[in-house]
Amino acid sequence: MSPAPTLEANVSLRPYNTFGLEVTARWFARFASVEELRALLALPQVQAAEKLVLGGGSNLLFTRNFEGVVLKNEIRGLEIVDQDEETALVRAGAGESWHGLVQYALGQELSGIENLSLIPGTVGAAPLQNIGAYGAELKDTFEQLEALELSTGRLRTFLGPECGFGYRESVFKGPLKNQFIVTNVLLRLHKQGRPNVRYGDIQTTLQDMGIEGDPTPLHISEAVSSIRRSKLPDPAQIGNAGSFFKNPEISQAKFDELKAQFEGLPGYPVPGGVKVPAAWLIEQCGWKGQRRGPHGVHDRQALVLVNHGGAQGQDIRDLAYEIIASVREKFGIELHPEVNIM
Ligand code: EPU
Repeated sequence: MSPAPTLEANVSLRPYNTFGLEVTARWFARFASVEELRALLALPQVQAAEKLVLGGGSNLLFTRNFEGVVLKNEIRGLEIVDQDEETALVRAGAGESWHGLVQYALGQELSGIENLSLIPGTVGAAPLQNIGAYGAELKDTFEQLEALELSTGRLRTFLGPECGFGYRESVFKGPLKNQFIVTNVLLRLHKQGRPNVRYGDIQTTLQDMGIEGDPTPLHISEAVSSIRRSKLPDPAQIGNAGSFFKNPEISQAKFDELKAQFEGLPGYPVPGGVKVPAAWLIEQCGWKGQRRGPHGVHDRQALVLVNHGGAQGQDIRDLAYEIIASVREKFGIELHPEVNIM
């Protein structure tokens, strides 16, 4: 029997959001198992309240206090549950840190998620936006997840195709938003390293590191970590939520038209058009490194909004809207936040 769940009132969320914003939750509780989660959901205050499940709080911008109940997912566990000659199936509790899972895989000499090293946040949050970086996405190794349905308390298994994964998208952000709480995730990892060095920066970093021949998953993890550290602010030092906006996709015709006007415009072909880096558009509008008192735009990655200390969520949101308006005016392109604005 697990102990009865405790609800705390008026809890500061500052330690639980990587922007480091000083907001409070009306109610706050942690759960470390499905049973504890069910017990919490049975409490009258929890049933009546708006619910927010927190993983690492690394993709959230709070613009005000949260008047409902914050449920902090602390379901742990990392294990190999099945394997064959080539692959191993790893199950991870949703409350594990994502990078902890990457390190576990490296320790087991399994490859597939090393390109996703150092992404902040938890395992349970990873499928919601199909986390991706340096040429890899969660969906590439994803096997299935288990999630608890809020309305029934029942566990349901979702296989890859049922998750509707796209670029920073899944059904859990779309039609099933706020209906399920992820409890664990299963990934199919490989025993023989298949290095994924498509992303140009990885190759140059490996060269700088003096790695010749086929890099191991550990080499790739080190290269990715070094690239991330050089561009992205560490939330422990400067509040941020990684990329604030998604990279927009535009039609080939629109791209050609802009390219004639802005020669340096980068673009990557995707089905149905061209993806352009939002960071480039934002930098061209003069935002990179700008500060508005305690908040601003990171000086090494224009896609990242930062809290240098003491910023208000509304101010960061207003800055985001100003950036969106200036990119729209200069390029006729609409940027969309990647971060969940609460
Ligand atoms: N660029 C600029 N100015 C900048 C930064 C970048 O012009 O300040 C241009 C350059 O042309 C550069 C291109 O943007 O070549 C791409 O930059 P980068 O490699 O840094 O990647 P990104 O497209 O800005 C995306 C993800 C990141 C991920 C990196 C690496 C999104 C929204 N962001 O950023 O993900 O780490 O690629 O794969 O897709 C996150 O989601 O929080 C995140 C950090």
